[in-house]
Amino acid sequence: EKGGYETFMEKEINDQPKAVEDTLLGRSDETGRMVLDELRIDPEELRQVSKIIVLACGTAAYAGTVAKYAIEHWCRVPVEVELAHEFRYRDPIIDTSTLIVSVSQSGETMDTLMAVRYAKEQGARTLAICNTNGSTIPRESDAVLYTHAGPEIAVASTKAFLAQITGAYVLGLYLAQLRGQMFTGEIQDILADLHKIPSKIQQILDDSESIKSLARAMAATPSVLFLGRHVGFPVAMEGALKLKELAYIHAEGFAAGELKHGPIALIEEGQPVFVVVPSPRGRDSLHAKVVSNIQEVRARGAKTITVAEAGDDDVREYSEEVFFVPDTQPLLMPLLTTVPLQIFACALAEQKGYDVDQPRNLAKSVTVE
Ligand code: M6R
Repeated sequence: EKGGYETFMEKEINDQPKAVEDTLLGRSDETGRMVLDELRIDPEELRQVSKIIVLACGTAAYAGTVAKYAIEHWCRVPVEVELAHEFRYRDPIIDTSTLIVSVSQSGETMDTLMAVRYAKEQGARTLAICNTNGSTIPRESDAVLYTHAGPEIAVASTKAFLAQITGAYVLGLYLAQLRGQMFTGEIQDILADLHKIPSKIQQILDDSESIKSLARAMAATPSVLFLGRHVGFPVAMEGALKLKELAYIHAEGFAAGELKHGPIALIEEGQPVFVVVPSPRGRDSLHAKVVSNIQEVRARGAKTITVAEAGDDDVREYSEEVFFVPDTQPLLMPLLTTVPLQIFACALAEQKGYDVDQPRNLAKSVTVE
């Protein structure tokens, strides 16, 4: 059942091309129009939505943060992302034109379920992005968009994360189409690039030996920092969470722009810092800003490890180690840049002899508040 792998974690990291592919399957027709008849929600209501609030916990909330960048850009609807357990205790502003999008692999996370119930009571429409058929959150929501990652057994989430991002992109493209925010041709272009993602993930998986050997060499590291901007920011957060969960290493993710506002004080000689570098073809200034962040930490002794787009040779001279991922459009990059960080955390934890499928103190599904 582990498909020839030693652990579920390794299997699930390697399942990711299929998880993305299956989540895209059947969501558009041959003309490139998004087809989401499965949503049990009136398209007219979706057209009227004035605000989206994404509710989730842990890794699912990072998928939600990636979704915010894409949905706001594509649909021009304000999107807030909030940890479900914070949301309902702060008297949030919700009305009938608010769409609540919950993101949950299990569909049973109590914090998320309670927040969805609360929002429903306040009159919001609720849509679940979920990986588990018939689970409680989709059952209690007005609409559901299933991710098709297949069962995720390892406690730390990997393939469900990429499937959640993919599912959120599908929703974003559908909303953009409904609301007339994008031309069919633009949607087709993004879809075409999304369909190329699985083989690009496969390339990263096939070429993962160097990141694994770096991980093994870093088994004694007490702390690792992760930096990113734009969609690279939630990827950095997810990279740090994987390392905490699997390898019990102190790890923190930051928006790279925050460095000067405090975290740079942490940098001392030899401190490993992962940097998720945006595409040099994206918003021009962003890449240059991240390169200067790399230089700032490097000047203070950091060991810089970068995850960058193939061909981005600028980062080489500032990186102790660089891992390239195939190119894609800037908003789709998280589907690629996350993968080396997962492989790193898994290999490092295995090197330390830890059980990567069942990390200490954690449960796969958190069914208490
Ligand atoms: O089942 P859910 O997606 O609702 O779970 C949410 C979080 O509990 C989950 O993502 C958790 O953070 C994982 N341990 C991450 O690896």
